[in-house]
Amino acid sequence: MKKANEIDYGSIGFGYIQTPYNVRCYYRDGKWAEIETCTDENLSIHIAATSLHYGQECFEGLKAFRGVDGKVRLFRPTANAERMQRTAQYLQMAVPDTELFVKMCEMAVELNIDYVPPMESNGSMYLRPLLIGTGAQVGVKPANEYLLVIFATPVGPYFKGGMCGINVMVDREHDRAAPRGTGHIKVGGNYGASLISSVEAHNKGFDSVLYLDPREHKYIDECGAANFFAIRGNSYITPASRSILPSITNMSLKQLAADLGMEVEAREVEFSELTTFEEVGACGTAAVITPIASIYDPQTDIKYEYKWVGEKSQKLYDLYRGIQLGSAPDTHNWNMIIDETSKN
Ligand code: PLP
Ligand code: COI
Repeated sequence: MKKANEIDYGSIGFGYIQTPYNVRCYYRDGKWAEIETCTDENLSIHIAATSLHYGQECFEGLKAFRGVDGKVRLFRPTANAERMQRTAQYLQMAVPDTELFVKMCEMAVELNIDYVPPMESNGSMYLRPLLIGTGAQVGVKPANEYLLVIFATPVGPYFKGGMCGINVMVDREHDRAAPRGTGHIKVGGNYGASLISSVEAHNKGFDSVLYLDPREHKYIDECGAANFFAIRGNSYITPASRSILPSITNMSLKQLAADLGMEVEAREVEFSELTTFEEVGACGTAAVITPIASIYDPQTDIKYEYKWVGEKSQKLYDLYRGIQLGSAPDTHNWNMIIDETSKN
């Protein structure tokens, strides 16, 4: 394991870098046990665990930032707790309560605090909460035992080149989720189902994939592992559909757009509207706000092009990042300040 001060935080991408501790909590005999801290990166798991066979697996992603005042802030952990609860309920898993989830996130940051990248690097500490069915079943049934584990890893930009415009390809061959399936929750299976699209898009030289709604392929759904948004005039427009993951970044941007006096439209967005947008982008914890420079539709051979970084996207980005870094007022109380004195 590299020491915290041996990492060049300005040059890291979005990958796994080992940190000293992960945090675990087991659900057994109908209840969650005490939280454990662990230095081992590996899990020992039963060969018949439901997470391995029947997809009882879900995860979350959130970030902590070192800010302008040197303090470390964790962004909206409660919102991630609530989304994991919705996912766990759908998958018939044990549901971690908000207090447990947030406490474990806080511990994962505190225990690895030296690995939170310095502000100037533009990096952050990414937390990955993972909930898995560990109990054995052979019939298709929910497990009796679960594990919630959270690891922390320092990350840089998700897309190479960071805040520059990405080139996206419409996927006309595959859907990432079914119309009444699991697109609205964060199950690992959705990502397995999306790999073919992203690998094919990358092989063709694109940075990401634009998914259409799986029922009619008429509306815009999501952009890879991020939500899609567009700016037209003074409006912030973003798709709403049952097969889209409700992004916490997007939820925050909708609020900030309204705060800035913009109209917010969360609704079905027809693919044909692409010609009317001035700025388009992808947003998510990993993607932050990534402007989209072009969208290529292989069916028509049309490439839609956009200005980046557009003025309104930049304004939203500055405000959103300002709140995370403590340079803009946290008017909605989104940040949880990490107490570094409680490390040991
Ligand atoms: N959509 C998908 C499919 C994702 O994987 C993510 C990432 O979490 C998002 C959207 C963005 O969600 P959030 O802003 O909560 O990270
Ligand atoms: C996130 O933004 O947290 C994601 O989950 C996206 C991806 C890395 C899976």
